Amino acid sequence: MANRSVRVLGAAAFVAVFPVALLHFVGGQTVAIDGWIHFVGVALGAGVATGSAVALTVAGARLRDGHAVLVGCAFSVMAALLCLHGLATPGVLVGTNGVVSFTGAATLPVGGAILALGVVPALRRPAAVGPLLWLLAGGVVLILVLGLAAIAEPGLVPRGPEPRSLLAWLVLAAGTGFYAVLVWRAARTFRLTRRWSDILVALGIVWLAVALAAALLLDSRQLGWWLGHVFQVIGIAIVGIPVALDLRRGAARSRPLLGDLRGADLVAEEEAFLGSHVRALLVDLADKDTYTEEHTRRVALRAVQVGDELGLAAERLRDLALGGLLHDIGKLSIPDEILKRPGPLSQREFELVEEHPERGKRLLRELGGFSENVLRLVHDHHERLDGSGYPQGLGRSELDLDTRILSACDVYDALRSRRVYRAAWTHEEAMRLLRGSAGTIFDARSVDALERVLARERDDQLAIAV
Ligand SMILES: [Fe+2]
Ligand SMILES: [Fe+2]
Repeated sequence: MANRSVRVLGAAAFVAVFPVALLHFVGGQTVAIDGWIHFVGVALGAGVATGSAVALTVAGARLRDGHAVLVGCAFSVMAALLCLHGLATPGVLVGTNGVVSFTGAATLPVGGAILALGVVPALRRPAAVGPLLWLLAGGVVLILVLGLAAIAEPGLVPRGPEPRSLLAWLVLAAGTGFYAVLVWRAARTFRLTRRWSDILVALGIVWLAVALAAALLLDSRQLGWWLGHVFQVIGIAIVGIPVALDLRRGAARSRPLLGDLRGADLVAEEEAFLGSHVRALLVDLADKDTYTEEHTRRVALRAVQVGDELGLAAERLRDLALGGLLHDIGKLSIPDEILKRPGPLSQREFELVEEHPERGKRLLRELGGFSENVLRLVHDHHERLDGSGYPQGLGRSELDLDTRILSACDVYDALRSRRVYRAAWTHEEAMRLLRGSAGTIFDARSVDALERVLARERDDQLAIAV
């Protein structure tokens, strides 16, 4: 594992340094490249990129995935500006104009600024999808106006900053700042997930930042200026492809056909808020342990239904949905052979499995954007009223109602599922166990409410069957 990480990081360092070295060693060479090549190459390449970015945005909007929509918007605006940059090549469609240098300089800082908005958790919420789409529409209209202005009156759009001018350095500093935040976040995520796609995102952003430097410091007679265009297209692809793949992987969602629709909607809504990234982690968990993914969704739904039954406010129901979906995410870092072993576990292996609440909390805290309530639910879901739970052995006075609800629903679902080491229990058997320890190990109110919710659901099923 350690060796693999060293190899991955070594390869990553090489890929990050490569464009910088290329610019440094050959970027200054003088070249005479025909305007037509710029026109066709850039307009076509960026045109295709714009199409893919808009498709990514639409796919994200369908899944109500704020994060994917944000990335899609940033790339759509960036690629559309670059496309305009190609179309405005002097001497092809229009003569000398300011648009070509203006768009050349603006593309990357604008894209970086939109991407950096992703650090605001509220913008990753499903509710942000609508406003983000408006932002995108506004951006596209602005770009169209800019393009038309260049055709109608080439002098209307101010020229971008002169290469290496004070303004160019200022724009470079701002743009590099945005990209540094993004690289830092992507690198931090990779440290947690160790997924190839996360380190790729960090690298793609480095390529975009190098492209920004080339656009602002070199001019069209230098090879480096041209290389910058290539870096930019590659950077967009490197960052966009993993996001699109995450989206595809996370897209396979099932909805319960029966039961409380309000609860199901709320869980689906919170699942969308997780963003393609955390959803992909849940899919990783499902690949690792098929039982866990469906289990977490069912527990989330039950916990919301029980919380609703007990009259919890909407905000707490949201936290229950998220806590339910994520409660076992810490199992990601527990070796497969331990999770799936049918036979008994050794003392050490037991201890490892019992670390999953703490590991889960740590992972979510590092990923950021989760409330303390959600972190506490994940951390305490195996605690019991009599202090017999783990990881801390908390007692009655330290466990709030939300945690008690989640643990009762978790145990009920675990018992009702077939596991590698035992058959599934019937509803009656599982309820008998919970009722038997209600008030001592499990919270009596939560067990009663769970029983009522399940009874109603069974009645509904019966009614449909009849
Ligand atoms: Fe658990
Ligand atoms: Fe669980």
